[in-house]
Amino acid sequence: MREIDIPFGQPILDVEEIEAVKKVLEGPILAHGPVCAEFENAFSGFTESKFAISVASGTAALHLCLYASNIGPGDEVIVPAMSHVATAHAVEYCGAKPVFADVDPKSGNISPESISNSITERTKAIMVVHFLGLPCEMDAINRIASSIGALVFEDAALALGAKYGNKISGNLATAGCFSFYPIKHVTSIEGGMVTTNDERLARSIQQRKAFGYDHNHQTRVKPGIYDVPVLGYNYRMNEVEAAVGLCQLSKLKDRLKVRMDNYTALKSALASLDEITVFEPRQGKSTSSCYCLNAVLTPDSSINRDNIVQELTAQGIGTSVHYPGPIPMMSYYKEKYDYLPGQFPIAEWLSNKTISLPVAPHVPKGFEHRIATAIKKAIYNARKSL
Ligand SMILES: Cc1ncc(COP(=O)(O)O)c(C=O)c1O
Repeated sequence: MREIDIPFGQPILDVEEIEAVKKVLEGPILAHGPVCAEFENAFSGFTESKFAISVASGTAALHLCLYASNIGPGDEVIVPAMSHVATAHAVEYCGAKPVFADVDPKSGNISPESISNSITERTKAIMVVHFLGLPCEMDAINRIASSIGALVFEDAALALGAKYGNKISGNLATAGCFSFYPIKHVTSIEGGMVTTNDERLARSIQQRKAFGYDHNHQTRVKPGIYDVPVLGYNYRMNEVEAAVGLCQLSKLKDRLKVRMDNYTALKSALASLDEITVFEPRQGKSTSSCYCLNAVLTPDSSINRDNIVQELTAQGIGTSVHYPGPIPMMSYYKEKYDYLPGQFPIAEWLSNKTISLPVAPHVPKGFEHRIATAIKKAIYNARKSL
């Protein structure tokens, strides 16, 4: 078996990142320092948001948004059934209840209709997830939310640089949450960011990401002296992470274009395969940031996904699955809330019938033909053995 030479994801770190990290490590400040502030400024510029607050991870960003909005026991937050568990975990951390809504088969996104069907008198917020980078239908979702006085948060972990009309993700609702895990659009090794135009929310998140201090290191009147008026966490990003993230952000525009070009090339290479459909990267007002390409086996397809994945692996091509199960079918949620198979049919279908394929800038020229050839071979062999 050949080695994987086209991995599903791979961080691209240049000499610039290494020099920036060296500079931080040779200096006196490793935490809550000027590089984090610089990264935050650059990020708020990129997302056209008034505030950007650096945090330790995408999950910390989600948790802080809900916690700083005083969401807690007795409250409900509507989340899509199809996402990373972090989206629902953030709600659980607050002692609130995640209410799962099924997703749209053409995008994997939570739909305005399924949100409407999930509203109760306890609904305090809606956590939308821009699935694999394609923004949700935010006009309709924001309208529904304002009609019931609920907040809307964007889980934009895979949607950095995605557009909705002429607005950018992270600036489409109350606040946006980003992840800088190694294979995301921008990495800071681990890390995350919250963006918002709401000053009160921004101040509350800034305080709660650092133990609940009333004064940070820069604003203390006497060194070492502070009070703690609220419960806070240690969710800060460090200076090394910020240095990496800042270098990465400066390359994002070019890399987003490469992702879209790769997506388009792979989509046309797969176009002749009847067994596979591919999500459109532009739908309505939404333009995807093309985290990866989801090859979706048609519902009536008799082809086994594992056969295709095996052939791709044999040809040196890495794949992934987004996501391995609807969140409510994960044991923790299933047992806690008594969910049953069949309650979220589209999310179940996506988690069983899709293969996530690489389109990030690490893929070599001609990658699309290698992927299409491997998939064709797997389908041919599977048909032969029927
Ligand atoms: C949609 C979504 N939200 C949140 C997260 C969690 O981000 P992090 O790993 O930075 O905590 C992920 C991770 O991949 C994700 O896919």
